Amino acid sequence: MMQRLFQIVEPLCTWYTRHKRPLPWRESPTPYHVWLSEVMLQQTRIEAVKPYYARFLAEAPTVAALAALPDDRLMKLWEGLGYYSRARNLKRAAQAVCEQYGGNLPADYEALRALPGIGEYTAGAIASIAFHLPYPAVDGNVLRVVTRLVGDERDVLHPTTKKEITAALSRVYQVAREPAALTQGLMELGEVVCMPNRAPLCELCPLASICQAHVDASWDRIPYRAPKKGRRVEHKLVLILHDEHGRYAIRRRPAEGLLAGLWELPQIDLPDGDVEDTALDELALAFCRQNGMMVAESAAAPTAKHIFTHLEWHMRGRYLNVRVDQPTSNGLLFVSAEALAADYALPTAFRAYARLLY
Ligand code: ADE
Ligand code: SF4
Repeated sequence: MMQRLFQIVEPLCTWYTRHKRPLPWRESPTPYHVWLSEVMLQQTRIEAVKPYYARFLAEAPTVAALAALPDDRLMKLWEGLGYYSRARNLKRAAQAVCEQYGGNLPADYEALRALPGIGEYTAGAIASIAFHLPYPAVDGNVLRVVTRLVGDERDVLHPTTKKEITAALSRVYQVAREPAALTQGLMELGEVVCMPNRAPLCELCPLASICQAHVDASWDRIPYRAPKKGRRVEHKLVLILHDEHGRYAIRRRPAEGLLAGLWELPQIDLPDGDVEDTALDELALAFCRQNGMMVAESAAAPTAKHIFTHLEWHMRGRYLNVRVDQPTSNGLLFVSAEALAADYALPTAFRAYARLLY
């Protein structure tokens, strides 16, 4: 079944060389550039990554500079990209690279794989794209292309599927002249020709003559995904506390768990099911009272939803004009809108509320 993958190498690499899009990280694919771009691209669209990538490199142009970046700067540079552990691991790995390898990423798959936050995919991408070593980088795009090519109708989310495809591709890489073109060709094909969520553009595909899904029109059921279990839902009341100096309250999340250590808008857990607006107001007022604030005015703020990997937040909001009359050690910090925009990274989960502030 996987045998036909050996036939993709020449047409795919030739096609990639001719048709590749000019992307910032393709201009000088150093190990650091490839690493940073791949980490950013893991959960984020290319167009969204571009400005982040440029800003990040302007402030941390080298692995050593990244290793020395203060945490709050790091979070600010990552603000809006989400999945913040990616950024923290990036810095931890940069520190390890400085200590163990003098600031240069090692040209060795296993050594890359051993660094914090570098999994099989990222190690394969750096090894093949930057070091021209024969390792595949298998993400959702590559799985889609390969399962279609070989007509693999197994559950693509099952670990065995990925394992076997990775093993088969590894054998193909052994005979590929240009691993960098093969890795990026697979990615590129998955992004611009053999796309998710719509019919693939087989008439433009350099692999159509060797593709099973094209022959039997099975692309609309491949990749197959077994139905997945639902996400947990948490209900929250998000408070926009605005003081008489025009400042807004934020606080730090706990050092462990979801969005660990990041700044957030104060919030109250709500029970599942309906909560009346008047009950929300009561909760908000009680919170303010307990935290030494007088409330001058209270109004509804929008509802919002944020989807994490295994969790959804369903948020309701209250907007409160307050005066702090008994400072308490409650962890609330009042900051101006300008400071909030410039110095405090609010996670994307709060975007619907953050945009009301700056
Ligand atoms: N998607 C993931 N990695 C990519 C890359 N290096 N270039 C383009 N798209 C990608
Ligand atoms: Fe995808 Fe069509 Fe190309 Fe097959 S021929 S890899 S289905 S675009």
